[in-house]
Amino acid sequence: MRLYTPHLMEIFETRQETPDVKTLKLRFVEPQMRESFSFLAGQFGLYSAFGEGESTFCIASPPTWKDHIECTFRAVGKVTEVLRRKEAGDVIGFRGPYGNHFPLEEYRGKDLLFVVGGIALPPLRCLIWNVLDRRDEFGAVRIVYGARSVADLVYKHELDDWAARSDVELVTTVDPGGETPDWKGGIGFVPTALEQYAPPSGNGLAFVCGPPIMIKFSMPVLDKLGFAPGQIVTTLENRMKCGVGKCGRCNIGGTYVCKEGPVFTARELEALPMGSDY
Ligand SMILES: Cc1cc2nc3c(=O)[nH]c(=O)nc-3n(C[C@H](O)[C@H](O)[C@H](O)COP(=O)(O)OP(=O)(O)OC[C@H]3O[C@@H](n4cnc5c(N)ncnc54)[C@H](O)[C@@H]3O)c2cc1C
Ligand code: FES
Repeated sequence: MRLYTPHLMEIFETRQETPDVKTLKLRFVEPQMRESFSFLAGQFGLYSAFGEGESTFCIASPPTWKDHIECTFRAVGKVTEVLRRKEAGDVIGFRGPYGNHFPLEEYRGKDLLFVVGGIALPPLRCLIWNVLDRRDEFGAVRIVYGARSVADLVYKHELDDWAARSDVELVTTVDPGGETPDWKGGIGFVPTALEQYAPPSGNGLAFVCGPPIMIKFSMPVLDKLGFAPGQIVTTLENRMKCGVGKCGRCNIGGTYVCKEGPVFTARELEALPMGSDY
């Protein structure tokens, strides 16, 4: 099959996460792809709406869920607007998996801290479930997740599951003014919630994903908590076209984010021309 030819995937379930964020649950149409497809947490795909084009999304479900994959996206433009209107029974295209991944084997025995804002939860949700499905192999699992408002939190039912588990520490927060009368989480920005929570760094890793402003103000907090740049991991969302290192759309200097990323440590990013400004 040619490099840019997508595989057909049938949508078998959808979930409206927020007014403009939707999850599609997908199964390959070809039985052979259902059998043979595999990927690793952190990888992404190109999802196509036929006649419209392709959009890049991470695979938001973990590799441990063998029978299907999920993507979660915000409708922001031409392709995502068409994908937003798709429902169960519709067929879309998929190319992938592409990119590097979170090196899970290196994380074994370590405490893992996830610092996440808004729609950036999907790539880390993949990793979080991957870790929870192999729970005994890892240390503490700590999640700080915030959104602008209660309505903007994604995967609300899973947040409830994580909050109920004794082997997960979950801190949720919404921006001031974004709370509802029955909101039981915190009120404040993610970096502030992180500072108040103050998890120990130890030998652990911190995964940070969110809007640039959230990342900017979370970094000094992580530094204060004792996380070195090599212990901080993020995943970039540079604009992409081919996804396979051919078109030159995603480069930062000589680094192809679609091949050498999207997963980078803060130390690796410091060495790129953009520096630590991600
Ligand atoms: C590796 C990777 C993983 C991603 N995972 C997800 C995900 O899980 N969920 C999700 O919602 N989005 C994700 N994105 C972002 C997503 O690819 C874009 O939002 C989407 O492709 C926009 O498609 P569109 O054709 O609807 O928008 P377009 O019509 O192309 O653009 C709409 C608007 O968004 C801007 N825009 C589009 N893409 C980007 C971008 N990458 N960076 C900055 N601005 C952009 C455009 O300039 C324009 O203003 C990911 C991106 C990458 C590279
Ligand atoms: S997206 Fe084409 S080179 Fe990376």
